[in-house]
Amino acid sequence: MVSLADLTPPRSRSNSVSTTKSDAALPSFESLAPPRPPTTKAEEETHVRIEGLQDVVRLKVDAGPGCGGIAWPAGEVLSRYIAYRHGLDPSHLRNKKILELGSGTGLVGIVAGLLEPSAEVWATDQSILLDLMRSNVELNLTNSPNHRPNVLVAEYNWGEEVPSDIPIESIDMVLAADCVYFEPAFPLLVKTLCDLAPIDKEIEILFCWKKRRKADKRFFMMLKKHFNQYTVEDDRPGQKEVYNRQGVSLVRLVRKK
Ligand SMILES: C[S@@+](CC[C@H](N)C(=O)[O-])C[C@H]1O[C@@H](n2cnc3c(N)ncnc32)[C@H](O)[C@@H]1O
Repeated sequence: MVSLADLTPPRSRSNSVSTTKSDAALPSFESLAPPRPPTTKAEEETHVRIEGLQDVVRLKVDAGPGCGGIAWPAGEVLSRYIAYRHGLDPSHLRNKKILELGSGTGLVGIVAGLLEPSAEVWATDQSILLDLMRSNVELNLTNSPNHRPNVLVAEYNWGEEVPSDIPIESIDMVLAADCVYFEPAFPLLVKTLCDLAPIDKEIEILFCWKKRRKADKRFFMMLKKHFNQYTVEDDRPGQKEVYNRQGVSLVRLVRKK
């Protein structure tokens, strides 16, 4: 396993990682990166249409618990991509054990669970977001006769041990959307990715992010020590150009030997 000491950022604004403790709310996201204007207000419900799913995904959103309480563009891009790929070849998700990091509202994990009932999904985030994620899993998955609730919600703080209720060894796929924005968390996220993808393990990591600040480059410098990045060839006509124009990129991470 990679230790946090190996992942010290080249030039970090802070050595403290205390703001990422499970019981601490993140600082206001707006102060870190100006978001697009949220389309929803606190405690409203928003609907996300994903081609390939019969119904819209219903999401309770709540700006109260921090930035994860609303749905972000990279999460929508990643959700649409996995839905598209599932339409072409369901084996990408069939019987897979999938872990989503920094799930926020739970959107991406919920989409994976809805697309493929045989998949087992862990949607994870800091404790402050778990109630919102549980509500959203219930809104979308428990009423459907075709779905046993195959999306589980779990607390997973980057940089910490993998929670014991997540079967780390059998995880086949990791999904992460819009998780690069807060510099002190960069080494924690890299450590977590390394923990989930030990050298030589076969695992797919789909990592979708939105470029916001120059400092994001530091994350990718840290990541480069451990992972190769490959742009996902998203062959839906015109889609990649549209989200790239909005600063969103979708890459596959492969652990370096
Ligand atoms: C910008 S939001 C993205 C949420 C969601 N993936 C989406 O695309 O809508 C970033 C997410 O990362 C989570 N996060 C930030 N630091 C974290 C940490 N140290 N451990 C676990 N999750 C963290 C936040 O709680 C938040 O839900």
